[in-house]
Amino acid sequence: MSDPSNPSGEPKVVVTRNGCYLVSGGIPLTRQTIGTDSAGESEKWSEGETFPTKESYALCRCGRSSTKPFCDPHGKVWNQVTGTQDPQVRANFIRQVGNCPSGRLVAWERASGAAIEPDLQKSIGVIEDPAERVSGPLWLRGGIPVIAADGFAYEVRNRVTLCRCGASANKPFCDGSHVKVGFRDWE
Ligand code: FES
Repeated sequence: MSDPSNPSGEPKVVVTRNGCYLVSGGIPLTRQTIGTDSAGESEKWSEGETFPTKESYALCRCGRSSTKPFCDPHGKVWNQVTGTQDPQVRANFIRQVGNCPSGRLVAWERASGAAIEPDLQKSIGVIEDPAERVSGPLWLRGGIPVIAADGFAYEVRNRVTLCRCGASANKPFCDGSHVKVGFRDWE
């Protein structure tokens, strides 16, 4: 069913000022755990819990929500709503206040010089890294637009990781600081 406040259904993530990530457009959300081989080397992704797909939802980006990976439903929803310039997202989240649920590595083709990117469906992974005993960033896949609170549109990329621990020096993007600060989703 289409969302009346986002009639185009365009998937996007808005980075609110001092607030959460506002996700709209019905983007699927799952946990993605980094699996390791017997030598402890990163080997493959394993898909875990699938969260119910909602048309829109708010994801924590400070690491302090009690309902991670979602933004705390009792937190600063109103500030987040007023922190974005996107009218559709504003309208949507105003409507939802009452029931808020709360790549860096690229392969290049030698001949053409074109990047070889995996064919990814638009989806968001909540990364867990049990080998490091930490939780990782949000993994936006399939070219989901990321919009800053002031309306600035970041370059659309097939793979992007957004900080959800609050410690990155390169916000909204993850810079690996979650390992240093020992950010954990499960504690
Ligand atoms: S999740 Fe915050 S730096 Fe990676």
